Amino acid sequence: MKKDEILGIDIGGSGIKGAVVDTATGELVTDRHRIETPQPATPEAIAEVIVQMAKHFKWKGDIGCGFPAVVQAGLVYTASNIDASWININAKKLFSKATGLKVTVVNDADVAGLAEMKFGAGKKQKGVVILITVGTGIGTAIFTQGELLPNTEFGHIELNGDIAERSISDATRKRDELNWETWALRFNEYLALLEKLFYPDLFILGGGLSKKPEKFLHLLKSKTKIIPAKLQNNAGIVGAALTAKQK
Ligand code: BGC
Repeated sequence: MKKDEILGIDIGGSGIKGAVVDTATGELVTDRHRIETPQPATPEAIAEVIVQMAKHFKWKGDIGCGFPAVVQAGLVYTASNIDASWININAKKLFSKATGLKVTVVNDADVAGLAEMKFGAGKKQKGVVILITVGTGIGTAIFTQGELLPNTEFGHIELNGDIAERSISDATRKRDELNWETWALRFNEYLALLEKLFYPDLFILGGGLSKKPEKFLHLLKSKTKIIPAKLQNNAGIVGAALTAKQK
């Protein structure tokens, strides 16, 4: 284990992915390891997966986790796509106790955003940048002058009378078998709403969807420039490690 290496873990609705990250370069220094998210995804069940992950990498150093909810100082406040029993659980304390290691837990979109701003599509971007992760839910991270405004939940603003993520997430696209045109029509409305609220300089699209930009990028329309996340699905792992390093 070298000085800058941290085990980054991306806790998602369907899979929990981990790898050792060199936080100085943003490179993964091991292969990714994926474990299915247990169902129900209770605090005890997820803590057990974090223990398994540390064991897999024979890890004894610090761990950073991206978590799909509002997290303040390790405490989980919301539970849209995770088990309701997470609310008011201190994930940082739970995972630290379970592994016996120092664990940092931060919102998943925020960590992905930090990774993209440092090593990926947002590098040297000074204006207002909005990273949108499209996966099981919709996560957002907003930056101005490279600084993050943490725990923004703009996947939950109202779009056509419902919580936005219910109609535009990748999980909805797959579940309702939406073709790319239909999904993009909805997503364009969402982008227009964010534009009206924030007047951003750049949108970065991340999450599971960013693995296949050729399927949808040409269908997206907004005044603001849109680019896919450069670190693609690794942004969550890299950003989780980066956050642990900074803390
Ligand atoms: C949660 C966010 C999270 C996003 C992506 C949303 O449902 O409320 O906190 O960042 O999903 O996982």
